[in-house]
Amino acid sequence: MKKNLGHPVFKILANIAAETQTEAYVIGGYVRDIFLSRPSKDIDVVILGNGIEFAELAGKQLKSKVAVFKNFGTAMLRFQDLEIEFVGARKESYRADSRKPIVENGTIEDDQLRRDFTINALAISLNKDTYGDLVNPFNGVEDLNNRLIRTPLDPEVTFSDDPLRMMRAIRFATQLNFNIDKAALAAISKQKDRIKIVSKERITDELNKIILSPVPSIGFKHLFDTGLLHLIFPQMANLYGVEIINGKGHKDNFYHTLQVLDNICEVTGDLWLRWAAILHDIAKPPTKRFEENHGWTFHGHEDKGARMVPQIFTQLKLPLNEKMKFVQKLVQLHLRPIVLAQEIVTDSAVRRLLFDAGEDIESLMLLCNADVTTKNEYKVKKYRNNFELVKQKLKDVEERDKIRNWQPPVSGNDIMEVFGISAGKEVGMIKNAIREAILEGEITNDHDQALAFMLMKGKEFGLIPVAEQSR
Ligand code: CTP
Repeated sequence: MKKNLGHPVFKILANIAAETQTEAYVIGGYVRDIFLSRPSKDIDVVILGNGIEFAELAGKQLKSKVAVFKNFGTAMLRFQDLEIEFVGARKESYRADSRKPIVENGTIEDDQLRRDFTINALAISLNKDTYGDLVNPFNGVEDLNNRLIRTPLDPEVTFSDDPLRMMRAIRFATQLNFNIDKAALAAISKQKDRIKIVSKERITDELNKIILSPVPSIGFKHLFDTGLLHLIFPQMANLYGVEIINGKGHKDNFYHTLQVLDNICEVTGDLWLRWAAILHDIAKPPTKRFEENHGWTFHGHEDKGARMVPQIFTQLKLPLNEKMKFVQKLVQLHLRPIVLAQEIVTDSAVRRLLFDAGEDIESLMLLCNADVTTKNEYKVKKYRNNFELVKQKLKDVEERDKIRNWQPPVSGNDIMEVFGISAGKEVGMIKNAIREAILEGEITNDHDQALAFMLMKGKEFGLIPVAEQSR
């Protein structure tokens, strides 16, 4: 089969191969993505010989700087918007205790055999007589057509060579909505413990790619079923299961969480909002109680969940920055709109939600909508209708009271000046009282009303305004 390599850079590489009498092939993800009609900018080229020397020659011709990674025997250059990586063909043998390969010279088929999956082991020739020919010794095209992730070698060998590939198998299956070959799945279950030699960053990279896929539950189910999830993210595996006491069960929080995650993925591509969906009920297992009168309860799971977020982000080497704060805030607040949707919504409850959620109110509403997973059509309708009411109310109250980016209409300095006092607990108490009065709707959110209220409150605390002190 011939494949059309559209970009002119391939002819230039083919000329270098001809001039130096070295065989060269395009390989890996770029070839796979031609078949999947997914345009890609990352090109991998395998050289039957010295990849670095070939890259230096290509760099000269293309007038591009070449970055050489001597330890790995690879070199990389950028040309226009492409990133081209050159590597010598490998007949790799891996050390048992490390991901670092020992490189040996090999044939193109040797190299293909040592790659992760058949769909990633397709090559296209850049050589004179065979230019454009597909080299497909392991039925990668058939596997693409059958939507199957399969290893070219015995999967036990492929995964043992590089345990990160266990995550990659599940990641590709999720991104592409492919099945994983039975033997490969069995090999992952068997070798799952070897994931421990892979760095946390690389594991989390793959996990985030799973989460950014259209239907991430596909990947999480594989991670759970193979036992990988228990090793890389035990808190999530812990959500699994239903306990029954006196004939009363609770829902399985693992599958509920996956449903919420898939739901939110229909409305947002934001990684952190997706993480909030994953973590919203994370503290249900440690807060679970059976109460004779109420059945199963998970009191305080939102508070405990919010406290677990930094610990989980640290463990997974996710960033400990404002993204984490955002996730934490959403976990903390995730029940609030639901509570509002169940009750008659008062203006003050809406103002409090706006105050607490601030700029993240829309994200919070998306999360809550996604959290409705009951199969009961009647309940779903009722919730969704109530949500619409809450949303309308949020809009009305925000237009009127401007709580979203609330700044105190009277500052701490104002309070100190008016009463001639220095910073101290009275200032904080008056500030809190003003905020509470605004949120409760006792006064409106403006300077004059807040000032009048401040004078009244100050007097209650025994303070006398400076203007009245001299009298
Ligand atoms: N590869 C491998 N084993 C790995 C990583 C990569 O065999 N652990 C091989 C595969 O042939 C893969 C190629 O190296 O196609 C390039 O790897 P990479 O750039 O990580 O992945 P892509 O397949 O290009 O896919 P993506 O860009 O989606 O990660």
